[in-house]
Amino acid sequence: MSVVAKGKVCVTGAGGFLASWVVDLLLSKDYFVHGTVRDPDNEKYSHLKKLEKAGDKLKLVKADLLDYSSLQSAIAGCIGVFHVASPVPSSSVPNPEVEVMAPAVDGTLNVLKACVEANVKRVVYVSSAAALMMNPNWSKNQVIDESCWSDLEFCKRTEVKRILNPSSLTCYFPHLLFTEISPFWQNWYCASKTQAESEAFEFAKRTGISLVSICPTMVFGPVLQQHTVNASTLALAKLLKEGFESRENQVRLIVDVRDVAQALLLVYEKPEAEGRYICTAHKAKEKDVIEKLKSLYPNYNYPKSYVEVEERSTMSSEKLQKLGWTFRPLEETLVDSVESYRKAKILD
Ligand SMILES: NC(=O)c1ccc[n+]([C@@H]2O[C@H](COP(=O)([O-])OP(=O)(O)OC[C@H]3O[C@@H](n4cnc5c(N)ncnc54)[C@H](OP(=O)(O)O)[C@@H]3O)[C@@H](O)[C@H]2O)c1
Repeated sequence: MSVVAKGKVCVTGAGGFLASWVVDLLLSKDYFVHGTVRDPDNEKYSHLKKLEKAGDKLKLVKADLLDYSSLQSAIAGCIGVFHVASPVPSSSVPNPEVEVMAPAVDGTLNVLKACVEANVKRVVYVSSAAALMMNPNWSKNQVIDESCWSDLEFCKRTEVKRILNPSSLTCYFPHLLFTEISPFWQNWYCASKTQAESEAFEFAKRTGISLVSICPTMVFGPVLQQHTVNASTLALAKLLKEGFESRENQVRLIVDVRDVAQALLLVYEKPEAEGRYICTAHKAKEKDVIEKLKSLYPNYNYPKSYVEVEERSTMSSEKLQKLGWTFRPLEETLVDSVESYRKAKILD
C-alpha cells in the first residue's frame, strides 16, 4: 500500500469507549471523520460533539453493522476505515447468535464489502486478545504471538461445558471480571471476535483490500463518554467499589485506551504495517494493581483478600513496538481512569 494521504476516514461505533478516543485522535491530526452511531440524536453521543475540531471535522452518520446500505453511505468517500464497533456485552444476552455473533461477524463483512465498493485504501480492524487466547493447545508458560488463533470450536464448546475456569481468563477478557457471569455467555464474545477476525482476513485475501488488525488485551483508561459504561470500565470500577470478599490473584494484561488509539493510527499510517498486532502494555498481578490504587485512593471499597493462583500463558506486543508503538506508565492509566470515573459519576 502506498502512504495513506490524510483525508476522510470512517470510525464505526464512534460513541464507544475506544472509538471515542480514536475519533479524538484523528480529529487532532486533522482527519475528517465520519463517525457511525446507531442513533445520532441520542444524548449518549453528546461527548463527541464537544471534541476539539468536531464542529468542522466530525460528521455523525447513522449506521448499524447489520444494515449494509447504512454502512455504504457512511463509508462512501472515505479513504480509510477504523472498524471498532462490535458488541461487548457486560451481562449475559438472551440470544447470543443474534446479538453478539451476527453484528461481529456479518457486520465486519458488511463493513469490508462497503470498503471495497468505496475503494478504501486501508481498513484497520479492532479485534481482541480473545481471538488469540482461547485455545486448549497453548501451554502454561507460552508467550502468545500473532500466529496464535483461538479455537473457534473450543470457544463454542465451552459455552455449554465449563472446560476452563473462566476466572483464569480474566486477564484478557474484561467482562470475565464480573462474578455473576456464566461460562455459557463468556465464550460467545471470544467466538465472535475469533470468527470475525479470521473471516475478515479471508475476505481481504480474496479481494486484495489492505486490512490490518489490532488485538488489545484489557483496555483501561479515562472515559470520554458520560452516559454509558463499557464492559472494561465497569470491570475496573467494580474493583474499586464492589468490596469483593476474596479474589484470585490473576495476572492482568492491561493497555491504556489512548495507547490503543495510537496503535490504530500507527498501523493505519505506516505503509509497511501488515496482518495482526497484539496490543498490550503491562503485565501485573491484580493484587499489585489494587495496592497501587489503594496508595493513591485509599477510601474505596477494594477486594478484601486474594488467593494465589498459577500463572497462565502471556502475550507480547513486540511486533507493534517494532513498528514504533510506545505506551504510558500503568500509574498514569490508573490515575486518569479513576479521575474520569469520578467526573462521570461511575464510582458513586
Ligand atoms: N475494552 C476492552 O477491554 C477491549 C479489549 C479488547 C478488544 N476490544 C474491542 O474494542 C472494540 C470497542 O470496544 P469498547 O471497549 O470501546 O466497547 P463499547 O464502548 O461497548 O463499544 C462498542 C461499540 O460497538 C457498537 N455496536 C455494537 N453493536 C453494533 C451494531 N449492531 N451496529 C453498530 N454499532 C454497534 C456500540 O454502539 P452503540 O453505542 O450504538 O451501542 C459501541 O459504540 C470492540 O471491537 C471490542 O471487541 C475492547
